[in-house]
Amino acid sequence: MYAYSHCDLSPGGPVPVSQSTVRVINHLDQDYLRQALEHDVRTGLSASPKWLPPKWFYDEAGSELFSRITRLPEYYPTRRELAILRSRAADLAAASGADTLVELGSGTSEKTELLLEAMDEAGRLRAYTPVDVDAVTLVAAARRLAGRFPELTVQAVCADFERHLALLPRTGRRMVAFLGGTIGNLEPAARAVFLKELRATLRPGDTFLLGADLVKDTGRLVAAYDDSAGVTAAFNRNVLRVINRDLAADFDPEAFEHVALYDERQEWIEMRLRATRDMRVRVGALGLDVSFEEGEEMRTEISAKFRPEGLREELAAAGFGVRRRFTDPEGDFTLVLAAP
Ligand code: SAH
Ligand code: AVI
Repeated sequence: MYAYSHCDLSPGGPVPVSQSTVRVINHLDQDYLRQALEHDVRTGLSASPKWLPPKWFYDEAGSELFSRITRLPEYYPTRRELAILRSRAADLAAASGADTLVELGSGTSEKTELLLEAMDEAGRLRAYTPVDVDAVTLVAAARRLAGRFPELTVQAVCADFERHLALLPRTGRRMVAFLGGTIGNLEPAARAVFLKELRATLRPGDTFLLGADLVKDTGRLVAAYDDSAGVTAAFNRNVLRVINRDLAADFDPEAFEHVALYDERQEWIEMRLRATRDMRVRVGALGLDVSFEEGEEMRTEISAKFRPEGLREELAAAGFGVRRRFTDPEGDFTLVLAAP
């Protein structure tokens, strides 16, 4: 039996936080996680070229590394999105009319506080539902916000937003937020499916708030994913540590080099791990032996960059119309409020 760290929760029950309560709903039990990770690792490591899906970066250590990335001088998206939220959260709260905020891939929910404050000031704030695969970070954020807004109903949902959208609570007038540019971590086909599935779960009056990183100078893009302090490299290698621990594998993470490049045709950043020598890796839980040749690269993430018109078209194809669109003064990042 292996320990799965992503959403290793006892069956969801209320977690008391001073006067307020956080309810935890878990759609990622150990069986589900084991099967999903096994499936993804078997599929990705048997493919040519090899690849791994980015959702497995985010155990507790991976989320902590991502938080460090958001504070790096080279990594502009978080600061730019924060700047937009600082000036536009009140507009967004008013335009959405929402009393319930559902946040997909919520992580530490740091920027979210601005939206909750704006909804509170508009006198409408009732509920917050953060959704994430990393239970530890999810529950810590939910507790913090329940403490910050004592009247708020907080339901933390440990779930995969590519699988469990239909299971999310539908009460209240909802704004579903998907911040940080995480939409760009989905492949185009998966993105189209995700947007259609999300659209199908929304009811009249609900809205969708989407944060997306914009196409820009290649040098700045690459620097944002290949920082001089090596934090992104450690984040990238963390997926190997997750597989070592959860699937009894024997990757030597330090034998893989971090690679970040910008594909100008696809308009996306690719992160890869490059083998620095010939290697044979055993994935014990799968009974799988995988060979790497020196120089072989395995894709671990794409991070697509968008143009406003392309984003509008993708949203329209899924049945969304754009209600509001904001960009930071530097033109780096955009926030779009869309509605069915
Ligand atoms: N929204 C935050 C965090 C972005 S990092 C911000 O803007 O800073 C991406 C987050 O999405 C992580 O917390 C990660 O655990 C979560 N995540 C990644 N893939 C996911 C999936 N398939 N389902 C649910 N959460 C996911
Ligand atoms: C979560 N996501 C939007 C980040 C991004 O920029 O694509 C993940 C990340 N990968 C490397 N650095 C940050």
